[in-house]
Amino acid sequence: MSDIVLSGIRSTGNLHLGNYLGAVKNFVKMQETNNCYFFIADYHSLTTHPTPGDLHKSVRQVLVEYLAAGLNPDKSTLYIQSDVPEIAELYLLLNMNAYLGELERTTSFKDKARKNTNNVNAGLLTYPVLMAADIIIHHADKVPVGKDQEQNLEMARKFARRFNNMYNVEYFKEPVAYNFGNELVKVPGLDGTGKMGKSEGNGIYLADEEKVIRKKIMRAVTDSGPTEPNSAIPEPIQNLFTIMDIVSTPDTVEHFKNLYNTCEIRYGDLKKQLAEDVVKLIAPINAKIAEIDADDEYVKRAAKIGAEKARESAVKTIKEVREIIGIRKFY
Ligand code: ADP
Ligand code: TRP
Repeated sequence: MSDIVLSGIRSTGNLHLGNYLGAVKNFVKMQETNNCYFFIADYHSLTTHPTPGDLHKSVRQVLVEYLAAGLNPDKSTLYIQSDVPEIAELYLLLNMNAYLGELERTTSFKDKARKNTNNVNAGLLTYPVLMAADIIIHHADKVPVGKDQEQNLEMARKFARRFNNMYNVEYFKEPVAYNFGNELVKVPGLDGTGKMGKSEGNGIYLADEEKVIRKKIMRAVTDSGPTEPNSAIPEPIQNLFTIMDIVSTPDTVEHFKNLYNTCEIRYGDLKKQLAEDVVKLIAPINAKIAEIDADDEYVKRAAKIGAEKARESAVKTIKEVREIIGIRKFY
């Protein structure tokens, strides 16, 4: 039997090249051979953005971008978290067996609490419980996510195991973070250091027009260039090579590495080539975004069939969980 694969992305902004290469591109591949659930984590986005300007619009945008990137609503179960209220019920039930100490020790909680001292809410604390509910409600085996999510996956396994132990059943599976063989990509940003991220303001977005992409890449941080042959490549330049490694042909990468090593490199040329290759990758998705965005019927249909399929599976799980815990009707 094929694996159950599940992953989600929060609706806190448009998808960037990192989200695409690190996550969505792989979702597209996986839907061909697995039973896949991909969703938009709108409840989760409220933990850090409690009063979003237009939540409905940003959820729709991510859905449009998922579809434009190649997720097929007839192959994958593609849905919006809040369309499946059973997830909220499982979250509530799991919360009864999640302890303050372990939640407080989670790195992502500590990070977010430190960065956002005026909004350390209970949703942020129980973020990993909601994430566990997302995953185990569909009995997922594999969860394709980036490295930053490993600890949340560990928590999901813990909550699944604890449920089984407490109610003396072998009911929930323990999901594993999945990283596509050994290819765990981390797409760097264009600002010289760190990863590309929504909150970092250093991204190239799938919704960016060609000229915007070119402009962003031409402005990427570089240095004054190597002065000694075969010298070490500093981070900002390495970042451009890393993106090039992912989006360009090996010949192209080798060509510019050789020029670097002989100190003949002109960063303008490297950036022009990189922009060309990024545009080649994004332009078709970008065109699709416009096309799908204009097709409201298609977007609605995708959300509707996704919600129906996801609920079918979630309703079954909740029924069984209630039975296991002993929540039964009197009428
Ligand atoms: P962001 O970091 O931009 O807020 P999310 O936290 O919503 O993005 O992440 C959604 C998915 O995209 C996760 O699986 C995450 O690991 C992946 N991802 C995010 N940024 C990158 C990146 N720069 N490189 C590779 N994968 C990434
Ligand atoms: N926490 C994930 C992120 O920030 C998003 C997410 C929520 C998720 N629920 C999930 C990912 C379930 C995988 C499975 O990227």
